[in-house]
Amino acid sequence: MHQAPVKVLLAAAVVAAVLVLAASAEGITLQNKHGFKVVLTPTGATIQKLFVPSCKGKHRLVNVVLGYENATGYALDPHPNFGATVGRVANRIANASFSLDGKAYTLQANDGSSSLHGGAVPWAKAAWRGSASRDGLSATFEYTSLDGEAGFPGTVAAKVVYSIPAAGSSLAINMSATSDKATPLSIINHAYFNLKGAGNGDILDHIVQLSAHHYTPAAEGTLVPSGMVAPVAGSPYDFTKPKSVRHDLLRANGGAIRGYDTNFVLPPPTGTSTKAPEWWAPGVNPQAAHDAPTRPLAWAATVTEPRSGMRLRMLTNAPGMQLYTGNSLDGKQPGPGVVDAAAAHHGQAAAHAGAYYQRYSGLCLEAQAFPNAINTPGFPSSVLRPGQAFSNRVTYEFSCA
Ligand SMILES: *[C@@H]1O[C@H](CO)[C@@H](O)[C@H](O)[C@H]1NC(C)=O
Ligand SMILES: *[C@@H]1O[C@H](CO)[C@@H](O)[C@H](O)[C@H]1NC(C)=O
Ligand SMILES: *[C@@H]1O[C@H](CO)[C@@H](O)[C@H](O)[C@H]1NC(C)=O
Repeated sequence: MHQAPVKVLLAAAVVAAVLVLAASAEGITLQNKHGFKVVLTPTGATIQKLFVPSCKGKHRLVNVVLGYENATGYALDPHPNFGATVGRVANRIANASFSLDGKAYTLQANDGSSSLHGGAVPWAKAAWRGSASRDGLSATFEYTSLDGEAGFPGTVAAKVVYSIPAAGSSLAINMSATSDKATPLSIINHAYFNLKGAGNGDILDHIVQLSAHHYTPAAEGTLVPSGMVAPVAGSPYDFTKPKSVRHDLLRANGGAIRGYDTNFVLPPPTGTSTKAPEWWAPGVNPQAAHDAPTRPLAWAATVTEPRSGMRLRMLTNAPGMQLYTGNSLDGKQPGPGVVDAAAAHHGQAAAHAGAYYQRYSGLCLEAQAFPNAINTPGFPSSVLRPGQAFSNRVTYEFSCA
C-alpha cells in the first residue's frame, strides 16, 4: 500500500516514455476514390480507423473498428490489442512454456498461468517501420524480433502489408515472416469490428455466419484448448446458418465472462483437394506451406448488421479463426472523442467523458494458428523453420446487405 505512489510514478514514467516513441512515429492513411479509408499507426502496425461508406446516408463514412484517438490510448497498459498486429505467438501458450527440438523454453505468464499474445514483448506495442506505396493504396510495416525476445528462439523478420483496391471497400492484410531458428509463430491482426460504428453500442445483434463445422473446445476459465476437434452441431458454436451473436452468447465459454472467445477450425482453402478438417495433417504447418503466400483464400465468416445494413466478409488462408466478442472490455477503454484517457485507465470513467468501450462493443475475427498449438501434437503445427516462409493472409470485404 505504501508503495502505491511510487508504482504510480513509475507507471507514469513508462507511459510517458512509450508516448514519446509512439508520438514520434508517423501514421499512414490509405484511401481510394470511393472514400474507403484505413488509418494505420506504426506502433503495433495497427489499424487505428477503418472508414466504410455508409449504407444509409450518401457521402457518409462510418469508422467500423475500435481504437483510440491518439498515442495516449495505445500506450495504456494493458490495452486490448485494438487493431494491432499480435505476435510472436498470438493467443495462449499453456503454462507459459513449450519445448521444441528437445529444448525447453519459458515465457512470461500474463493470462493466469498461460502466456497470451506474445508475453513479455508484445509486438502489438512494438515500433514497426512503416512506409506507404506511391499510389496511397498500400502500406508495409516491418519488425525484427531478436533471438531470445520474450523467451522465443530465433531472430524473426516480420512484415505486414495492408492494401486496398482502387475502387471498392476491402482491406487485404498480408502477414509474413522468416526465422533463422525454429520457433513457434502465429502473427495475427486483432481488429475489433462494430458495423454500426465504433463506440455506437454493442455487437449483440450482429448476425454471424461461419464456414466452420468444427471448433476446438477449451477449458472454462483458462480458455486453453483440450486438444479435441469437435463438431459445432448442437452447440452454441454452430454458426453454419446465420445467427445473432446474442442468440447463444450466454452458453458460450468466454473465459471469466460469458461470450465467445473460441477457436474455429476452418475448412480447406479453394483448390485444396482434401476435406475439412483434414486439409492440414496433425503436426504440419499449413501457414508455412510453399503455396501459402499466394494460394486463393477461403471464405471464413460473414457478419451482417441489420440496422446499418453493413456486411463484412472475411477470407483467409489460416487454419483457425478466433471469434471473440469483446467479453473483457470493461468500460475503461476510452473510445472516440474521449479526452481523459489517463482517468479512464484508472477506472475513473467520468460521466462527462464521452464514449467508452463497454463489454461486447466490438467483435474480432482473428485468423490464426490454433491456440496452444505448440503444446498440442494433434493440432496443425505452429512451428516456422529456417528456409520456410510464414504466411497469414486475411481480406475483410465490406458491402451493403
Ligand atoms: C501445465 O503443467 C502441469 C504441470 O507440469 C501439467 O500437469 C499440465 O498438463 C500443464 N497444462 C497444460 C494445459 O499443458
Ligand atoms: C504476401 O507477402 C509475401 C512476402 O512478402 C509474398 O511473397 C506474397 O507474394 C504476398 N502475397 C500476396 C497475395 O500479395
Ligand atoms: C488525444 O486525443 C484527445 C481526444 O481527441 C485529445 O483531447 C488529446 O489532447 C490527445 N492527446 C494527445 C497527447 O495528443
